[in-house]
Amino acid sequence: LDVFTYDPGYTSTGSCKSAITYIDGDEGVLLHRGYAIADLAENCEFLDVAYLILKGELPNVEQKAKFENDITHHSMLNEQISFFYRGFRRDSHPMAVMCGVVGAMAAFYHDSTDINDPHQRMIASYRLIAKMPTVVGWAYKYSQGQPFMYPQNKLSYSENFLRMMFATPCEEYVPNPILTRAMDRILILHADHEQNASTSTVRLAGSSGANPFACIAAGIASLWGPAHGGANEAVLTMLHEIGSVDRIPEFIKKAKDKDDPFRLMGFGHRVYKNYDPRAKIMAQTCHEVLDELGVKDEPLLKLAMELERIALEDEYFVQRKLFPNVDFYSGIIFRAMGIPTTVFTCLFALARTVGWIAQWNEMLTDADQKIGRPRQLYVGAGPRPYVPLDKRG
Ligand code: CMC
Repeated sequence: LDVFTYDPGYTSTGSCKSAITYIDGDEGVLLHRGYAIADLAENCEFLDVAYLILKGELPNVEQKAKFENDITHHSMLNEQISFFYRGFRRDSHPMAVMCGVVGAMAAFYHDSTDINDPHQRMIASYRLIAKMPTVVGWAYKYSQGQPFMYPQNKLSYSENFLRMMFATPCEEYVPNPILTRAMDRILILHADHEQNASTSTVRLAGSSGANPFACIAAGIASLWGPAHGGANEAVLTMLHEIGSVDRIPEFIKKAKDKDDPFRLMGFGHRVYKNYDPRAKIMAQTCHEVLDELGVKDEPLLKLAMELERIALEDEYFVQRKLFPNVDFYSGIIFRAMGIPTTVFTCLFALARTVGWIAQWNEMLTDADQKIGRPRQLYVGAGPRPYVPLDKRG
């Protein structure tokens, strides 16, 4: 007899064991390899956290230098991939371009197909982490009709990314340390989050032994939706739609109306039922970035803060333990930095690549893991005789 648990949305199904990320949703705790997210965001560069997530420990001085060197030397995309970009319409959503380009990378790095070789797995991991800023930078440049910028190894990971986004071949790029720091922090806050939809997608795709670039492309596709990584874009769209503080009650009412599909974007989380620790750091970073850029009285920030205040006092949100999540303030920072709304989720994907690839590696070395294969509750027709075409009504 087949016995299984019916659990739509896997709300109570543990699909794996993992030593990477720990979340206590009731207490608002998020740890990577045992380190609190606030400590990592405060003290680390993104590549330190990438190393930690991938390898289990923070790097020492030599390990840090070697890892940075290894990553920077994989940051270039095969030149042939630039032609792949040119197949897209200029007005394509950059996430659509990302799904396509990262999937296409499976056709370029043939040694990465040997997923049973730990060395090849690590090279595939380095390639993905290293090339993702170039992939996103080029997706943005392509959308603008500007020339692609090539990575520069002397720059840090975040500097390099910001340069590929905002520099042109005609102008020397001068990194702004505050913006670089903010970008590092934003990437750290998004680096991993245990078995969310996109990470589970990467694991499920990888459980069949699929190519790592193809698995990460699947993760990018899953992240795109507004209930997941696409929420950062959706928050900005929503704030623009609300438009002014006096319209907030109207939208709060819509969010509470069960006949209206509208939800307060950037609010709520499957696991956090107290607060999202990433959101606190993101709100603080938002103020720092706006100060640095000399943005005074940013109307969208005022609107977001007022929306948060009103929602947190509303019984509907209190009862359901709905708090701002990581995506609530990130879009305001991105916008202030000059990043267009459609690129927001690409930044989430860039950062989450570290978590995806670490979880993929962990799965492939876990003897308990099998091909992912959920069961179903069949609710269709019972057995019945075949009806020939001329007898069908
Ligand atoms: N606005 C209004 N009501 C909400 C919201 C919201 N943002 N989120 C949840 N609810 C209500 C929901 O209608 C339900 O009410 P009831 O019990 O009366 O039917 C209750 O709260 C529980 O919601 P749920 O949909 O069962 O919760 P879930 O765990 O399945 O969904 C979520 C989690 C994040 C998908 C959901 O809160 C949501 O859609 N939020 C908005 C999108 C968003 O901000 N996503 C980013 C998540 S954090 C970044 C990431 O890791 O991707």
